[in-house]
Amino acid sequence: MTVGAVARHKTALTRVALSRPMATAMADGLLPEGATVFDYGCGKGDDLRHLRALGYPAEGWDPTHRPNAERRSAAVVNLGFVVNVIEHPRERREVLRSAWELTEQLLVISARMTWDGRDLVGRPMGDGLLTRTGTFQKFYDQNELAEWIESSLDVKPFAAAPGIFYVFRDEAAAQRFVASRVYTYRPRMTIDPQAQYEANQQTLAPLLAFMQAHARPPRVGELPPGEFGAVQEALGSLGKAQRLIRQVTDDDFWDRVTVQRRAELLIYVALSRFGRRPRFSQLDSSLAADIRALFGTYQEACLQADRLLLACGDQAMIYVNARGSQIGKQTPSALYVHRSAMAEIPPVLQVYEGCARVLAGTIPSANMVKLSVTEPQVSYLTYPRFDRDPHPTLRSAITVNLRKLSVEWRDYSRSENPPLLHRKEEFLGEDDPRRPLYSRLTRAEMRAGLYEHPELIGTAKGWQATLAKAGVSLRGHRLVRSG
Ligand SMILES: C[S@@+](CC[C@H](N)C(=O)[O-])C[C@H]1O[C@@H](n2cnc3c(N)ncnc32)[C@H](O)[C@@H]1O
Repeated sequence: MTVGAVARHKTALTRVALSRPMATAMADGLLPEGATVFDYGCGKGDDLRHLRALGYPAEGWDPTHRPNAERRSAAVVNLGFVVNVIEHPRERREVLRSAWELTEQLLVISARMTWDGRDLVGRPMGDGLLTRTGTFQKFYDQNELAEWIESSLDVKPFAAAPGIFYVFRDEAAAQRFVASRVYTYRPRMTIDPQAQYEANQQTLAPLLAFMQAHARPPRVGELPPGEFGAVQEALGSLGKAQRLIRQVTDDDFWDRVTVQRRAELLIYVALSRFGRRPRFSQLDSSLAADIRALFGTYQEACLQADRLLLACGDQAMIYVNARGSQIGKQTPSALYVHRSAMAEIPPVLQVYEGCARVLAGTIPSANMVKLSVTEPQVSYLTYPRFDRDPHPTLRSAITVNLRKLSVEWRDYSRSENPPLLHRKEEFLGEDDPRRPLYSRLTRAEMRAGLYEHPELIGTAKGWQATLAKAGVSLRGHRLVRSG
């Protein structure tokens, strides 16, 4: 379809894999098996093909490529990179509303981000750009897209990732999504061997997993019937099974699980404040039961969560909590934490980071989080070779500024002298099995005098020069004499 000078039909790509919005929804557990999917503005239909191959009943419509298909409602509707190719703001809004009308449970909306247009040549047209190929592109800032969705639908969208938002029909589903994003950590558990436990270990595993996850025993219906029946048959009752688990484990372990679960719930309740905080009756029943068991009342949890939220808006509190953190690497301006250790930093800092994710969504490739202590800013850093390379280099950074409500992307993949990491153990969690290997290397590097001039070793070239000067090189995570 060519509208005036705009060639919209040229915007559809050929995709060799599921599109990023659909892959994101799947990774977030929002495409349950068998869910119907409708792809609104499906282009050449590649997502349809991939979704069908995965077993989803998927249909789609596109004004250019599938004009005769029926527009039908579905559990999940995808509006993938459609709104940014429409040059008329009014039509753009109408398309969004039509897609929402077809949505039974979840609408996934995506649009191209301002940084996608950085190198694009074209001439200004309306609120976007007419490209050389004659297509229109409106590039969005993350917050602009969020506000536009909310004002068009009168429903609060949730950021899934930069340029991708979810809109839920059902509040409980939305809250389950918010809760699922809180980081979790459980301390290591030791079992005191006992014959009856060992004989029933497999049967007891689902009950143990539930108790570890929720810091409380399950209520009726919270364990799948088959698993519940097996426990009853083997141990006589759920109560007896729980007592057996408690006998073979440490009280101290359960105290720590309770502390962790309470923190997770507080972080969740704090973050649920964005938008309108749900009523207790709107919460998923297991989540509601956890809050009751660990806080007594929802009001009490909200009160404590609001204190956390208040604290995380105070840069002095962020500073104090960051400096007091036992986990993460301290630098003058920030605390750096590996993503796998995020659940172990103080709750205020987790809420601080959570606020950034409310705006930006999840950055799947990022494995390091930088929490600034000097300004309200969180960065998500991608070090693709963190595990394999003793001194991995930075590939990209997404920085979220909570004062400016901005999300910026910086690419280092073509940099000749990218920043790199040292002392990798410092970024990791307390029980992380990688720690001994990394610490051993750090000690060897210190003995070799490689850290004497920290100002020289922060980037790839300076580090290579330091290694060469000391006559050493790296073989895996071992330091060896060169030549
Ligand atoms: C960049 S493509 C995206 C296609 C597909 N969703 C994907 O992610 O690969 C934009 C699509 O939007 C379609 N489109 C343009 N105007 C539309 C409208 N008013 N309603 C629905 N789709 C439209 C175009 O035909 C084009 O196929």
